Amino acid sequence: MVTFNLNGQTVEVDVADDTPLLWVLRDTLHLTGTKFGCGLGLCGACTVHVDGLAQPACQIPVSTADGTVITTIEGLSSDGSSNVQAAWVAEQVPQCGYCQSGQIMAAAALLASNADPSDAAIDVAMSGNICRCGTYASIKRAIHRAAAMNAGVISTDGSAGRDR
Ligand code: FES
Ligand code: FES
Repeated sequence: MVTFNLNGQTVEVDVADDTPLLWVLRDTLHLTGTKFGCGLGLCGACTVHVDGLAQPACQIPVSTADGTVITTIEGLSSDGSSNVQAAWVAEQVPQCGYCQSGQIMAAAALLASNADPSDAAIDVAMSGNICRCGTYASIKRAIHRAAAMNAGVISTDGSAGRDR
């Protein structure tokens, strides 16, 4: 039995120790927002937060998740209204959308550790997240927008906020 905190709730799962966390999230717990892309830790589609760090869920044996705090795209906000998600909508980032929950989770982890990342810092932090539709430029704009939202420089509707 493996126990962890998932999106604010304690969950227990009874699966083989070497089952990848990604399968537990998708198949056992039915949280399908986290996507399977490569299964090899190369694409970032399966990115979740483990104790606040962006990690590829396909590479985490569930036994090593015991006692951790895990956040998936479903737990980033209760209604999809976190600043990162709102910035993604405002910048119309997704194309096919398949990679985007992983992109958003990587971006949210970056902004939690770096409130105003440079383009270079974004490139480094997001380098593990591949987008076959080539949305990289709009992802960068959305991260800058989310940083400005977090700082109160612009509001979630894109208008000038309290600091301007
Ligand atoms: S599915 Fe996990 S990194 Fe590609
Ligand atoms: S939006 Fe299609 S793979 Fe990224």
